[in-house]
Amino acid sequence: MKIELKDKLIPALDLNDPAEARKIMRNLIPLVSTFKIGPVLFIREGRCFVEESIEDGAKIFLDLKLHDIPNTVEHAVRSAVSIGINFLTVHASGGKDMIKAAVNGAEGRCKILAVTLLTSLSQLSQKEIFGSSISTEARVAALADIAISGGADGVVSSPLEAKFLSSILPSNSLIVTPGIRVCKEVSDTKDDQSRTADAVTAVKNGATHIVVGRPILRAHDPVEEVRKILSELREAK
Ligand code: C5P
Repeated sequence: MKIELKDKLIPALDLNDPAEARKIMRNLIPLVSTFKIGPVLFIREGRCFVEESIEDGAKIFLDLKLHDIPNTVEHAVRSAVSIGINFLTVHASGGKDMIKAAVNGAEGRCKILAVTLLTSLSQLSQKEIFGSSISTEARVAALADIAISGGADGVVSSPLEAKFLSSILPSNSLIVTPGIRVCKEVSDTKDDQSRTADAVTAVKNGATHIVVGRPILRAHDPVEEVRKILSELREAK
């Protein structure tokens, strides 16, 4: 699957200040096509911010990670796609019927991505949540299977699991990886993320898209940071 670099790198606009988010988005639009808007901005600014972003020429990845009964999810997805978004997330752990409901609600108008395991979850946190201590890979594989057999267009996983996911999922599945830290940061600045890798490793591992939030937002010059990531990806091709 050929995906342009412009579409591959998705900045996450996890900012409380809509004016700041708008400014960063407008500055980055010449370099990237798609921006991720999640609960931080969406709960504050709602669909107006998304509509204005689309008017500005941005494609929107709405990261609401829906997880509810199928009927509720289907109606929520219908509402979300009416804004004109391109990607929407649900949790794979909501089960196959919930994923099918999300896909029905989307009516092919936006890609449904299912989050496998949050990239912040270490092996220890997984054990606390799920009890048993099966490997992260086995858990992610089971959740990815639920997602794809439910009709999702792809999955969200850590960059560390992208490699084996690309070997088990149908070749047209999207593999979206957050948890990206630039090389120098991987060892020392993980923030609350646990399963991280740098952008080039993620893409080499099979990620079709990478989501990068704080490394861009906290950079002295976000535009320069995006240019740097894009040029690393270009060189690595
Ligand atoms: O700032 P950072 O680059 O860690 O941001 C990663 C983004 O990806 C955040 O918006 C977070 O909500 C999202 N995300 C994640 N792990 C997942 C799914 C989404 O970090 N499994």
